[in-house]
Amino acid sequence: YKMSTQQTLKVFVTRRIPQEGMQILQNSGMCNLSVWDSDEPVPRAELLQGVAGAHGLICLLSDKIDAEVLDAAGPNLKVISTLSVGFDHLAIDEIKKRGIRVGYTPDVLTDATAELTVALLLATCRRLPEGVEEVKNGGWSTWKPLWLCGYGLSGSTVGVIGLGRIGLAIARRLKPFGVKRLLYTGRQPKPQAQEIDGEYVPLDTLVRESDFVVVSCSLTPDTQGLCDKTFFGKMKKTAIFINTSRGAVVNQEDLFEALSSGQIAAAGLDVTTPEPLPTDHPLLTLKNCVVLPHIGSATYSTRGVMSELTANNLLAGLTGSEMPTELKL
Ligand code: NDP
Ligand code: DGY
Repeated sequence: YKMSTQQTLKVFVTRRIPQEGMQILQNSGMCNLSVWDSDEPVPRAELLQGVAGAHGLICLLSDKIDAEVLDAAGPNLKVISTLSVGFDHLAIDEIKKRGIRVGYTPDVLTDATAELTVALLLATCRRLPEGVEEVKNGGWSTWKPLWLCGYGLSGSTVGVIGLGRIGLAIARRLKPFGVKRLLYTGRQPKPQAQEIDGEYVPLDTLVRESDFVVVSCSLTPDTQGLCDKTFFGKMKKTAIFINTSRGAVVNQEDLFEALSSGQIAAAGLDVTTPEPLPTDHPLLTLKNCVVLPHIGSATYSTRGVMSELTANNLLAGLTGSEMPTELKL
């Protein structure tokens, strides 16, 4: 009896997700699974149709879950589990109002994302994509004293905006490169910063004094558009800007202006607005801008574990038990 009642719990999954998570959902025997069986985002109309009557929803950061989606889902919806640590795509107020619980994937992607951030930083400051391109296009004529020179971490000042899980993991990895000062900003000083000799400073100080500005905060109304003309105007002309948080933290027109006018040295972005960035976007015409396609957490094992956690959060939400990682609303 119990099984057949449980079998009726409808779960909508907005994308093909790694099999680790699918297996858990299938083995639970409690879900009537409906999957948007594609590697591409679910079209809005299909999303609205797919969630109708669902008890659980598994979504990705590319799915905007707002009042319209929640209304389309209706009163059955108990739990939303996102395959991401970022939750700026979820209308939290609307979700809270309806008493829906939310699962997300903190911690399990911290190492992979910090690693990618370091890779992007080094690729940007040492001009790796340019160098690779020159080898291929015949631009490599001989060893030249000032050709493809960049900036190094040794003896530098690094500023981390948002010393959260990922920000701290980035700082830990950068310190051994010989970073002299590690500055950070945020809403309040962090005790964990001691471990990396981090100095809590006002944003203005961080932006003015850093040789590398690394953005790893969450996207909120406060951080939206934080990196604008004024911000880039305070940075050193030799400084490097790195963003692996969310594209909307940056005003891209202002960044383009700062990069093309030589106001800052270079930028490395793993996140943009929109995603994908159109191939004719002005930022892509710049040699001093390295853009990656949002691959911060993209290792096989990390994505597998994220999928597992997303499934387990969902099941806990469906059964009304404790989630491995619930977002406190
Ligand atoms: P955390 O919540 O641990 O860290 C976010 C940090 O941002 C917190 O320390 C928070 O401070 C800080 N913050 C919030 N508001 C501000 C502000 N106004 N100024 C400065 N700092 C602020 O999350 P994670 O480290 O796990 O993840 C951070 C973000 O990284 C995610 O939200 C996501 O957007 C992005 N991300 C990107 C990935 C990629 O593929 N490129 C992969 C994974 C995550 P406080 O502690 O005071 O709230
Ligand atoms: C997240 O989890 O928020 C990232 O952007 C993708 O892993």
